[in-house]
Amino acid sequence: VKKRLPDVERRRILAGLASATALGIAGRVRAQTREKNPTMLTRTIPKSAGGTEALPAIGMGTWQTFDVGGDAAARAPLVETLRVFFQAGARVIDSSPMYGRAESVVGDLLSGFPDARPFLATKVWTTGKEAGVRQMNQSFQRMRTKVMDLMQVHNLVDWRTHLDTLRGWKQEGRVRYLGVTHYSQGAFDELERIIAKEAIDFVQLPYSITWRDAERRLLPAARANGVAVLVMQPFETGALFRRVRGKSLPDWAAGLEIASWAQYFLKWILGHPAVTCPIPASADPRHMADDLRAGIGPLPDEATRRKMVEYLGV
Ligand SMILES: NC(=O)c1ccc[n+]([C@@H]2O[C@H](COP(=O)([O-])OP(=O)(O)OC[C@H]3O[C@@H](n4cnc5c(N)ncnc54)[C@H](OP(=O)(O)O)[C@@H]3O)[C@@H](O)[C@H]2O)c1
Repeated sequence: VKKRLPDVERRRILAGLASATALGIAGRVRAQTREKNPTMLTRTIPKSAGGTEALPAIGMGTWQTFDVGGDAAARAPLVETLRVFFQAGARVIDSSPMYGRAESVVGDLLSGFPDARPFLATKVWTTGKEAGVRQMNQSFQRMRTKVMDLMQVHNLVDWRTHLDTLRGWKQEGRVRYLGVTHYSQGAFDELERIIAKEAIDFVQLPYSITWRDAERRLLPAARANGVAVLVMQPFETGALFRRVRGKSLPDWAAGLEIASWAQYFLKWILGHPAVTCPIPASADPRHMADDLRAGIGPLPDEATRRKMVEYLGV
């Protein structure tokens, strides 16, 4: 004889089943959302208030890529690149008055993304206090901002003069952070002295899987002095892709969620604990999407980073 459950018990079981199903579906939806739009890793800026301000781990450079004219056809891929960039949760955009029209193009195009929260970085690249002030004021106008998140002295040109101006501007709240950059290993000794002795927040330097000089002294110095590190030329301006043409990724790369050489190169950089944010440049939204995936999932530890260098044979 089938025993009928009391109504109240049936309702409880049915309600339980319904909520379990609902939970299951919600869980799947959440998992899919995460899968579709997973969270990018972040790194804190050591000298932010309480060391709590975090930046998404992949940024974007604008040298050459954003130096385009006003015509819509030239700018369309850059609009798409920015869309992909913000959708992935990225924020750091690096420019310079040395990059032709790049600052203006960044400013123009960002006006089409009113909800984005870019972290704007640019540079001063001239000699003399007055000229520096004029150039930096122009950068604010071109990038259409009242506050620059990061102002860097480009290639250390007249750095004492500009850091002096910038310290005043930081107190006034016109710039949030200040820093220095150089592209050449010949300047690494001077960069190291500045990191150790000057009150700077950021350094921007070249570091890649085959240009490893920065890890000997500069990266340890940045770490010891609480200086955030932006990594320029993470693909050696594209030369790294030519180096691996025809070569396959190792099988074990999948375990690091590496699906392309761009991700291999960027995850290798991000595996260094002193690195805040590599800033690859691309005018191709598909390439930018590829680069941004490097900010998601596991990063290589020291032993794996050595294995990655060995696999490349460099
Ligand atoms: N002294 C300084 O302060 C200094 C000096 C140099 C650079 N920087 C900064 O560092 C930024 C980055 O350096 P960079 O622009 O010289 O070079 P990079 O980022 O090392 O390489 C850019 C090249 O890589 C290609 N690329 C990007 N993603 C790719 C992908 N997923 N697959 C295949 N190719 C890809 C790009 O081509 P596509 O456009 O076709 O994708 C472009 O040719 C500069 O833009 C600038 O902001 C600063």
